[in-house]
Amino acid sequence: MNILVTGGAGYIGTHTCVALLEAGYSVIVADNLSNSNIQALDKIKEIAQKELIFYQVDVTDEKSVDKIFTNHEIDGVIHFAGLKAVGESVEKPLAYYHNNIVSTMILVRACQNYKVKRFVFSSSATVYGDNNVPFKENMSLLPTTNPYGETKAMSERILTDTVKATPGFSVALLRYFNPVGAHESGLIGEAPNGIPNNLMPYVTQVAKGKLEKLKVFGNDYRTIDGTGVRDYIHVLDLAEGHVAALNNLIEGTHIYNLGTGRGTSVLELVKAFEEANGIEVPYEIVERRTGDIASCYADASKAKRELGWTAKRDIIAMCRDAWRFEKNYKEFVETV
Ligand code: NAD
Ligand code: UD1
Repeated sequence: MNILVTGGAGYIGTHTCVALLEAGYSVIVADNLSNSNIQALDKIKEIAQKELIFYQVDVTDEKSVDKIFTNHEIDGVIHFAGLKAVGESVEKPLAYYHNNIVSTMILVRACQNYKVKRFVFSSSATVYGDNNVPFKENMSLLPTTNPYGETKAMSERILTDTVKATPGFSVALLRYFNPVGAHESGLIGEAPNGIPNNLMPYVTQVAKGKLEKLKVFGNDYRTIDGTGVRDYIHVLDLAEGHVAALNNLIEGTHIYNLGTGRGTSVLELVKAFEEANGIEVPYEIVERRTGDIASCYADASKAKRELGWTAKRDIIAMCRDAWRFEKNYKEFVETV
């Protein structure tokens, strides 16, 4: 089966391409490389020992997308391509609405035109807003406080409505919790531009000495130690979740949380990182970050029940693999 992977050169996309190739799927990547690097595609091939097809295109460009669907018999689409920086989305809302919404609409229209029946969408736990934990798929969604989150909620609605109007169409809306870690090879992983916004890449850069110390955003939340609690999930588990979703897709819209079901506080994560890698991570407590919530973790039982998928890797593995990538691959990239 041929799977079109938009955003396949990015962080989650590369790991999912490996998982798809290893599961026997043929992969066609469409990526404009706006937040990724062409070398990532060679790394995918090196790890999986298989070939893939690559188009450097913007998936908001209907003609380019059409060409891919004309050139290949596509059996399914996994739509990762998107802009994802929350703060930037507040500053540039139109860029976010355009990129993230138009891409979804163009891809779904192509699926309709070319009778492609399977669509998997990268959504986010951010659509739950500040709900009571654990988050369950059937909860009413709350506002997300930023344009990035709204693009996810809107894309979910666009896909749900299209399913209702398109007999035979099947969509999986995958709500990711906090993806971290990297492939065990150290060849692919998360390489954010500039100073990282997210916790794990910040921690790895402190460990490396690139940043002086971690700023912990608040220790007065109603959580185990006052710091924010999140459901960190190893990116390889997340990648396997996509294969499970594709394998089990049936007609209709199906929403799945992809998380571990376990919450970890900021300080617990720092401790796990130090234990996993034997490196101290200096930190200081600072003010809360605007827009943050106290706790966010999944009820992951639906994906287990319906897809037979659960996250297998623990927080120590996440910290170890994130650090291996930071040490190896990024050093290489930074010096060439
Ligand atoms: P990423 O930035 O590493 O990957 C996204 C890829 O899409 C990049 O390679 C980028 O070049 C490409 N891209 C962006 N706009 C494009 C366009 N118009 N046409 C073609 N290619 C385009 O991000 P990621 O972390 O791998 O995230 C993948 C998806 O998962 C995104 O939709 C993101 O919103 C969603 N998501 C990510 C997280 C996370 O924490 N990483 C959490 C929840 C949801
Ligand atoms: C962020 C996004 C969210 C997105 C999610 C997964 C924001 C406001 N939200 O959420 O929309 O779905 O990533 O990609 O950016 N922390 C620190 N110091 C740091 C960085 C983070 O203490 O330098 C804390 C945060 O306060 C939070 C936890 O670490 O409690 C995790 O933060 P982060 O990695 O940014 O993820 P989210 O806040 O879950």
